Amino acid sequence: MFETLKALNPDPILGLMAAYRQDQNPKRVDLGVGVYKDEAGHTPILDCVKRADTLHRAAETTKTYVGPPGDPDFDAGIEKLVFGADHPTLKAGLIRTVQAPGGCGALRIAAELINRAKPGAAIWVSDPTWANHVPLLGDAGLEIKLYPYYDAASQGLKADAMLGALAQIPAGDLVLLHGCCHNPCGVDLKPAEWDAVAKLAVDRGFTPFVDLAYLGLGTGLDEDAYGVRKLAATVPELIVASSCSKNFGLYRERVGALSLVSPNAAQTDIVFGQIQNVARGIYSMPPNYGGALVGRILSDATLTADWKRELNAMRDRINGLRGQLATKFRERLGTHRFDFIPQQLGMFSFLGLTKEQVAQLKNEYSIYMVDSSRINVAGVNQQNIDYFCDAVCQVL
Ligand code: LMR
Repeated sequence: MFETLKALNPDPILGLMAAYRQDQNPKRVDLGVGVYKDEAGHTPILDCVKRADTLHRAAETTKTYVGPPGDPDFDAGIEKLVFGADHPTLKAGLIRTVQAPGGCGALRIAAELINRAKPGAAIWVSDPTWANHVPLLGDAGLEIKLYPYYDAASQGLKADAMLGALAQIPAGDLVLLHGCCHNPCGVDLKPAEWDAVAKLAVDRGFTPFVDLAYLGLGTGLDEDAYGVRKLAATVPELIVASSCSKNFGLYRERVGALSLVSPNAAQTDIVFGQIQNVARGIYSMPPNYGGALVGRILSDATLTADWKRELNAMRDRINGLRGQLATKFRERLGTHRFDFIPQQLGMFSFLGLTKEQVAQLKNEYSIYMVDSSRINVAGVNQQNIDYFCDAVCQVL
């Protein structure tokens, strides 16, 4: 039967990992897939994770199934982290969280839940958005529509166009928002813009859905959560998919969470049961290990403090590199063309190169980035920064 299937092109982001690994050039530079790298170009296991692992192994007595919602310490810890321990909606008992296999798992079970509630519902995503949002949401049956977001000319937000488009969205549609560190463009909403989105959601009756994959890697844990907390305090229904891949460095452990805000206790319970039922029909229960580590870190004050220090160090390194890139490009080009890099947040920025220039960087310099010229800033280090900046200036 499978002879009917057609060969596919490699995934636009994951395909770069394989191509980079095969490249023998000692000068190769990987700015492709969005994983944090340290100064040595390595994606480290955080010290707090290593300590949580030791404690977890000593305490673990069984490998029986974890329940469908996952690790209870994890779920409670994520709710406090994302919404803030004193958030009125959390205190009112109107938020329910389940552990999911990564942020992708959370996105997918949310999409399936939406499709149960409103088959074929329209979900508006930013133009551009993370490439994998389209299959994760669309393959569940949702209709994908675009709202204006990134302005390539100013390397900033099309704020008026975005808010104007949201003001036309019909009641009952959904709007996907990047909670912080927009992937792929690095341009985030400011608090006043989040306030405007929250008001529009109430006025128009659309449901916000926040993808929070990079919490803490933009400005700070609380600052990065401004939008999600504002929405949770304002709108009757909110969906939040969060991930521990980047901020805990737990990529391969597949640990994320889906949180739902509901307007009343009865709906809260119904939604909680429905999410677990959706998950049961796809993967039954989440893997335990990664969630157990995060649950342990977030329920231990010392481990939490250590994690925050390590997270701050990752964020500071990325933001420092952003400044250095702008300076080095200014020195080389004598223009302010790349001054936008430190204005943006998180791992990603678009360099504004053509596909041909991106291909030239790969073929002639072994520098890997997504075709759109999205770079993972964390892949830059003191060994490769001059090589990278020289090469970009050569292809311009
Ligand atoms: C990325 O955007 O590079 C990351 O989120 C990794 C992925 O799965 O695409």
